[in-house]
This record gives sequence, C-alpha cells and structure tokens, in this order.
Amino acid sequence: MRKSITKIQNYKKEGKKISVLTAYDYSTAKYLDQAGVDMILVGDSLAQVALGYDNTTEVGMDEMLVFVRAVSRAVENALLVADMPFMSFQLDKSETMKNACEFIKAGANAVKMEGSSDFVIECIKHLTQNGIPVMGHLGFTPMSVNSLGGHKIQGKDADRTIDILKDALRLQSAGCFAIVLELLPLQSSQFISQRLRIPTIGIGAGKFCDGQVLVSDDLLGKYDRFKPKFARQYSSLKDIIFNVAKAFCQDVEEGVFPSTKESFMLELEEIEKLENYR
Ligand code: KIV
Repeated sequence: MRKSITKIQNYKKEGKKISVLTAYDYSTAKYLDQAGVDMILVGDSLAQVALGYDNTTEVGMDEMLVFVRAVSRAVENALLVADMPFMSFQLDKSETMKNACEFIKAGANAVKMEGSSDFVIECIKHLTQNGIPVMGHLGFTPMSVNSLGGHKIQGKDADRTIDILKDALRLQSAGCFAIVLELLPLQSSQFISQRLRIPTIGIGAGKFCDGQVLVSDDLLGKYDRFKPKFARQYSSLKDIIFNVAKAFCQDVEEGVFPSTKESFMLELEEIEKLENYR
C-alpha cells in the first residue's frame, strides 16, 4: 500500500528524514519504489531529462500524463506526486482543478505547484478543500527561470529568507502538505523548516530540510547537459549505457550476436525438408 500524506507528515514529528526521487518511466519507478523511497515525483524536469527540451516550460499536460500513468503502474509503496506543468495552473481555477483531477485519475496521490502568488494560493485552497493534496515549491522555481534571471540561489540574506518563510506559511495555511525548497543557503532552509508544521523537502537547500529530493537522472549519472553542484552522482549510467551499446554494435558486426542459445531452432526433420526443397 502507498504511504499516506499523514505518514509522510508524521516523519517530520518523528525526526525521520524523507527521501524523494523523480521517476518518469515504469522500470525506473519500480526499482526506486522497491528500494524504499518515501515519495516519487513525476517532475516537470522530465521536459529536459526525458524529452530533451531546453527547459521545463516546454512540457504540457498531455505529455506529463503519459509519464504519470507509466510511473503509477509501477509504484506500490511510495506516495506518488505529479508536477503541474507550466500553464496548467496559471490561467483559471477550474482549469487548474480539471488538470489536477487528470493527474489523480492517472494514478497520482498528490500534485505539486510552484510559486506563492495570490492566484496560486487560491488554487491550492480550492484543490485541498476538494480533497486533492498539494505540495508547494518555493525558492528557485524553474518555471520562473526567465524572471529569476537564471539558476540563482534564493533567500541569500535575512530579509529574503524571511520573505520565503512568509510565503511558506501562506502555502501551509492554504493546505499544502509539504513544500519543496530549491536552491537556498542551508541556514535559510533550516530557519524556514523549523518554523513550519509541514515537512520541507530540499533540493540544493542543505541538510536541515525535513527531506531531500533529487532528479533521478542526476543521481544515476544519466543526464550530462547540466550537472548541478548540489546533486550527488551515485553512478555513471551514461557510461554504462554507452559501453553496453558499443559492445552490442561490436558483437553484431563480428557476427557473435545472436548465439545459438539466443536463437530459436527448427525440428531436425523440418530442417531436412528445407534442405531437400528444390
Ligand atoms: O521537476 C522536478 O523534478 C522538480 C524537482 C527538482 C523538485 O520539481
């Protein structure tokens, strides 16, 4: 059974750190889930790492839904969160509700929304009051990369940190069950985390958040167009894939793949018939 929102929130009270990873396809999601990751996020980062777009604003609901359905088929234990993509929650409250419902119907347990504008707060209230759990996202919010002037650390002084805390408290009051804090100094995210009832999930925000999230392609060493300073790379899947593909090409060229064991055989008498065919 998948973890509930209450269970995830209790981890904060119990002092248990929450692990979150992104997943976009069935088999990766299955292994992350089996390994015991608490939450799996179908992030709009799939725009870059799975679809090759330049940034997250290019991915839409239709594309996101395909990935949410695939991941949902694999996830048995983790809480599954779907990221609301650009333009899916900025236009109109009922459109936001409709899109969030699409994700829930596709198998997600909750949705994630970036930002804290009055409109976003209204939407979060609308969703949570109607039974759709929402995770917030503050600090660096990738959809606003153009107005933030690039991938910049947020909350770099006391005043800005307090501003983010105020936004986080508004998200908490609106009903968010957790908040992602992206690209913050560790003291800022510690200050904010200590003042919230709900868990914070950090990415590039230091060790004092209540949980940590990474893009799985960064962790696995699969995406090489950009390597964030904060991401720990546990393997080099890109080299493994490259070397495996090279070995396959070589085996095909040399005629050593497929072997007899990897082939299907006709019965002897059928072979004889073919040999006698004129
Ligand atoms: O899209 C994503 O993967 C995210 C995480 C980086 C938090 O929003």
